[in-house]
Amino acid sequence: MKPIQVGLLGIGTVGSGTFNVLQRNQEEIRRRAGRGIQITMVADLDVARARAVVGEGVAVVSDAREVIANPDIDIVIELIGGYGIAKALVMEAISAGKHVVTANKALLAVHGTEIFAAASARGVIVAFEAAVAGGIPIIKALREGLSANHIEWIAGIINGTTNFILSEMRDKGLDFEVVLKEAQRLGYAEADPTFDIEGVDAAHKATIMSAIAFGIPVQFDKAHVEGITKLSATDIRYAEQLGYRIKLLGITKRAPKGIELRVHPSLVPAKRLLANVEGAMNAVVVHGDAVGTTLYYGKGAGSEPTASAVIADLVDVTRLHTADPHHRVPHLAFQPDAMSDLPVLPMSEVVTSYYLRMRVADEAGVLAKVTGVLALNGISIDAVLQREADEVGGEGATSTDLIILTHDTREGTMDKVLAELQALPTVLSPIVRIRKEELR
Ligand code: HSE
Repeated sequence: MKPIQVGLLGIGTVGSGTFNVLQRNQEEIRRRAGRGIQITMVADLDVARARAVVGEGVAVVSDAREVIANPDIDIVIELIGGYGIAKALVMEAISAGKHVVTANKALLAVHGTEIFAAASARGVIVAFEAAVAGGIPIIKALREGLSANHIEWIAGIINGTTNFILSEMRDKGLDFEVVLKEAQRLGYAEADPTFDIEGVDAAHKATIMSAIAFGIPVQFDKAHVEGITKLSATDIRYAEQLGYRIKLLGITKRAPKGIELRVHPSLVPAKRLLANVEGAMNAVVVHGDAVGTTLYYGKGAGSEPTASAVIADLVDVTRLHTADPHHRVPHLAFQPDAMSDLPVLPMSEVVTSYYLRMRVADEAGVLAKVTGVLALNGISIDAVLQREADEVGGEGATSTDLIILTHDTREGTMDKVLAELQALPTVLSPIVRIRKEELR
């Protein structure tokens, strides 16, 4: 059978990796897919760069629409990124009857509902393994491998840049800004790192996982998104003393009244595998009722790791190309007419535990006042750490750090309690609140 023909839109880091791995492993890939898979056309604004990667024998154009218009192309790989032109091109490719493979988490987290509906109506596949956690086949695992399960929660380190920064902050005792500059110098963080450090990239990925795990539409606008820019080396150190590491987690969880969907720094017990994922690596923990807890670990970015996921999608699409669309795996794991209307809960309804750090006057009764406010609001304390004033502020210091770990409580209750605590005259600076996940 003649090879399936693929058009590639954008040949940067991941595109080059995809081209190279497809070439290198073409024979094995053909034996798996049942026919050859060939990139025969590439569109990139930098035609010279594209030509340098693909050599002769592949059509190189600057206009992506030429690829979409080519009747010989069966699959379009979109590696442009973002919500702008990428969205227009994906929608045009779908309407031209092409299958689409994309690594674009932002696009799917925000516009997935429209894109998947258009693809289903046109009978084509939109495959996106590379959109979440790079080379880790987490979409495949969630959508197919775990399809027997009532999934209860997912917690993941799904942004390598921030995990690298947090690892460095812990190892070297340095503050965020210092490590960010170093990460940019080493190429671990982009010149504009906003999407990574503010948690947006992780929230895009968590949004996609929440949809597949719980059969709800993608709802990025309902996600709680908090990055790592306000984390200090002090909190990383105190957390360590209490037996925890701080990680930026993407969490989605089934709760009695809806689905939690949130990204924020979290204390994780140091003994958990997730707490020991270091540097730019990614890891996702999924808890299902039948399987229990499962862990997926690997490279979440990079040229060939991400290409690994893109090509796995190409193989899937090639195998399914001639299948009745009804026999394909639904885009979001659940059949489109069997989606759930469970709401994504507002953050005030989320239940979790907390790390609180406050600078307090070092005088009689302060601890009692603070714990009294917690008790009055029904919040149970898990641990307390109080440093000697001298240790924190130097000899003769009259204030010290008080750190409290709580048991589970509603975020709305914690907001109220923090306002009450902050108003105490003996609480001397803004209280630091970091959520804590035991991941049992
Ligand atoms: N910028 C992402 C990260 C990789 O740092 O993990 C692509 O999603």
